[in-house]
Amino acid sequence: MKALVIGTGAREHALCRSLSLDPDVSELHCAPGNAGIAELAELHPVDALDGAAVAALATDLGADLVVVGPEAPLVAGVADAVRAAGIPCFGPSGEAAQLEGSKAFAKDVMAAAGVPTARSYVCTTPEEVDEALDAFGAPYVVKDDGLAAGKGVVVTDDIEAARTHANACDRVVIEEFLDGPEVSLFAITDGVTVLPLPPAQDFKRALDGDEGPNTGGMGAYSPLPWADPKLVDEVMETVLQPTVDELRRRGTPFSGLLYAGLAITSRGVRVIEFNARFGDPETQVVLARLQTPLASVLLNSANGTLDTEPPLRWREDAAVTVVIASHNYPGTPRTGDPIEGLDEVAEQDAPYAYVLHAGTKQDGDAIVSAGGRVLSVTATGTDLTQARERAYAAVARIRLDGSQHRTDIAAKAAAAS
Ligand code: AMP
Ligand code: GLY
Repeated sequence: MKALVIGTGAREHALCRSLSLDPDVSELHCAPGNAGIAELAELHPVDALDGAAVAALATDLGADLVVVGPEAPLVAGVADAVRAAGIPCFGPSGEAAQLEGSKAFAKDVMAAAGVPTARSYVCTTPEEVDEALDAFGAPYVVKDDGLAAGKGVVVTDDIEAARTHANACDRVVIEEFLDGPEVSLFAITDGVTVLPLPPAQDFKRALDGDEGPNTGGMGAYSPLPWADPKLVDEVMETVLQPTVDELRRRGTPFSGLLYAGLAITSRGVRVIEFNARFGDPETQVVLARLQTPLASVLLNSANGTLDTEPPLRWREDAAVTVVIASHNYPGTPRTGDPIEGLDEVAEQDAPYAYVLHAGTKQDGDAIVSAGGRVLSVTATGTDLTQARERAYAAVARIRLDGSQHRTDIAAKAAAAS
């Protein structure tokens, strides 16, 4: 099978890595990709947001499967364009991707499907904003309605900061604060059948101890030794299947990866958000544990034949990923700095630890930083402690001027297990 992956992050590198290990995949392509993906796939300089260009590339290549990684192309309808060209595509339609593209749409679907989530108001005027902030009290949770790369949400005790963020957005969702640990639970679906993947935990804040600003995600681990073993079954029943059923009922079936961002509160599981694609960095740890070859699973989702897929098989191993980010991330990152030490990781830490590239590019003989999140250093081990040790040993070999990473990824979970 010839597969084409769309996107350029560490998530896409992880997807390409799993596809490259699948004996059914004879050719692997990626657009636009990065310096790490270039070692596994042929890169094509095509704009991921341009549906016509992606469909034309897939047609030219004779691709049997296109996998769209990030949310922006999905919301822009790139999967629709690929399917219209007669090529199976993993990823939801633009309409179904509104589950991530509009927080107000997601709230509406959840209300119709009876899915537990934070109580919320959608506001468009300063008066509505003030009423909603008053109704819930502190801590205030204020979310830009549209896509914002994980940076549109402000959680604060400061009513002025809440008001300022709310009034800077055209349409804003203000909601009840949810207390308790967060879990990312992914499911692959074809619009009818839903296959849950093991839960992972992401670290959204920039600094150790969950301090500092929100980011796209600074690290992740899986499995979650502290989680209730019944969590996945419960979320399947109360969240994933009802959401997939509701979207099908509306005539906008969702196929692809349904990502439930959950809070485990004292009153039960609540959905914080849905995403319409694999999470980054959680994908890096979830796929590190997947034993089933990936291509047929994604193709069965694309073709609406997921009911024929045998149960997914998982390694007992634990996995940890640590993100190395540029100077000043999540503010405007400094880019163009050379990255050293990648060969040392490949020589000394493989196969247990490896580097997935996010924002990197080839510059002559050097690989240089090209984005906010630069690398996602991933490792497996018999337990979280060993996976952490291996991941951080590899992180220590990487040299990138001004870079930052958290030192406490999976630390609490490893210590408690
Ligand atoms: P989102 O983009 O919706 O995932 O929000 C980003 C982050 O803001 C989440 O991962 C949470 O840490 C936090 N957050 C969002 N909604 C809530 C909420 N209702 N209560 C508490 N924290 C929240
Ligand atoms: N790790 C959070 C996300 O992918 O949105």
